[in-house]
Amino acid sequence: MPEKNGGYSKVASSSSAQTSSLQKMHGVWSSRWTFILAATGSAVGLGNIWKFPYIAGENGGGAFVLVYLVCIAMIGIPVMCAEVLIGRRGRMSPINSMRFVTEEAGLHGAWTAIGWGGVVAGLMIMAFYSVVAGWALHHVIETASGAFTGIDGAGAGAKFGEFLGNTKSLIAWHTVFSVITFTVVAAGVTKGLSVVARVLMPFLFVALAVLLVYAIVKGDIAQGFAFLFDFKFDKLTGKGVLVALGHAFFTLSLGMGAIMAYGAYMPAHANVAGTVVTIGILDTLVALVAGLAIFPIVFASPGLQPSAGPGLMFVSLPVAFGNMPLGIVFGTLFFVLVVVAAWSSAVSLIEPGVAWVTEKGKFNRTIATGILTFIAWLGGLLCIYSNNWSGDKEGHFFVFEGLDFLTAQLMLPLGGMFIAIFVGWFMNKKILASEMDAEGHPLFDIWLFLIRYVSPALVALVMVFTLYITFAEPSDDLDFRALMFGLKVVSGGLSIVIGLQLWKLRKAKAQA
Ligand code: TRP
Repeated sequence: MPEKNGGYSKVASSSSAQTSSLQKMHGVWSSRWTFILAATGSAVGLGNIWKFPYIAGENGGGAFVLVYLVCIAMIGIPVMCAEVLIGRRGRMSPINSMRFVTEEAGLHGAWTAIGWGGVVAGLMIMAFYSVVAGWALHHVIETASGAFTGIDGAGAGAKFGEFLGNTKSLIAWHTVFSVITFTVVAAGVTKGLSVVARVLMPFLFVALAVLLVYAIVKGDIAQGFAFLFDFKFDKLTGKGVLVALGHAFFTLSLGMGAIMAYGAYMPAHANVAGTVVTIGILDTLVALVAGLAIFPIVFASPGLQPSAGPGLMFVSLPVAFGNMPLGIVFGTLFFVLVVVAAWSSAVSLIEPGVAWVTEKGKFNRTIATGILTFIAWLGGLLCIYSNNWSGDKEGHFFVFEGLDFLTAQLMLPLGGMFIAIFVGWFMNKKILASEMDAEGHPLFDIWLFLIRYVSPALVALVMVFTLYITFAEPSDDLDFRALMFGLKVVSGGLSIVIGLQLWKLRKAKAQA
């Protein structure tokens, strides 16, 4: 075994025993940097390259980016620490790690639901994620073959519509993506996930840098920069703030145990907080650079709009590349980059389930990966077929949007909230301090405050808001009403919690 395990003595003994059996079963990242690259691989995906630039542009550019950065720092990074911590403490799949820490804390087994929910959410995300990644694969071939050369907006739109109507082709690309994901996960942590992290992540960083230079040289960088970073506070609505918060979760792969599973394979001597901050910074940098590379290219073609949704990446960019010098080369590079980013994210979506099935001991890793990939693949078929059943070639995705809503808007924030509550309120503070290697450090207390109060409250706010605008009657001031309603609910809840804490404190003082 190549892994060094010096330094494990730092962790409580229960954890060391777990470590050696885990090393036999799953493997461990060979170094702290492999973990950083793997977790960054999970975090950097379609969310960064496709979604972030668009939502940033639409929600007030710099103003939105600022809110987003605050959310990453105040919620994303603290919750990510909590996930890594549970994973490294339990050293197993999220389900069994949750079981371990729950028993350690003497709590009811219902907390294990966090692990279960994660496995299910991962498969649900993988179902539609793999379909979109399939579109990107298709675009690699189309761009490379020159199919977009000289194309205009209408032509590219029609081409994409035609592709979305071609069920066979959609299934074929979805299947190709599922198979390449399977290959990596089946190969295991040491030979599969680590290799992808160490080879593909540096490629991704370099490719993105090359594209940025191309965008600066050939694109309209001034307009792109302004679109992304000008503070347009009037464009930032209540909903925009909450979009930023929700995206902070999705982009850091939080709330479903992906990072927990990766944390289980983390070397024990690696510093959690520093590692997680590095991942957060890398993920944010990739999102910002992706935006800075994409918009100048889009703006370089007169008449192209930084349009919404799938259109930006799958219609506008092909037009832009199709009409730029060396567009075939750089366009192909761009879509390869998208596939690579999606690929290294997809492996983290099925790893939690694979680790759990492997731990059951009935199947080896290859078969376990096969089973889970197959289930997600079937979900992808449902997405594809429900699209064509509706007969709406514009892309009205029923199952697709349903899965996206259920996971990104409900399951991930809820999962993240319960993880924060579990770690903040129910795990032994001594264990937390030793796992964080931060006894008495002022940052430790700040972190604890964030996961106890701030993260759960803000997530609850997003949840209430989202549910409100989903089910309320549409109106002009819907955003505002939903925000006010959410604030009332959350401040009510917080008052109760703080009241109870004060009451407990007084009682404890009175007894002493
Ligand atoms: N973070 C990835 C992206 O930005 C998507 C992703 C991968 C994810 N694994 C996850 C999202 C786990 C939530 C949970 O595209």
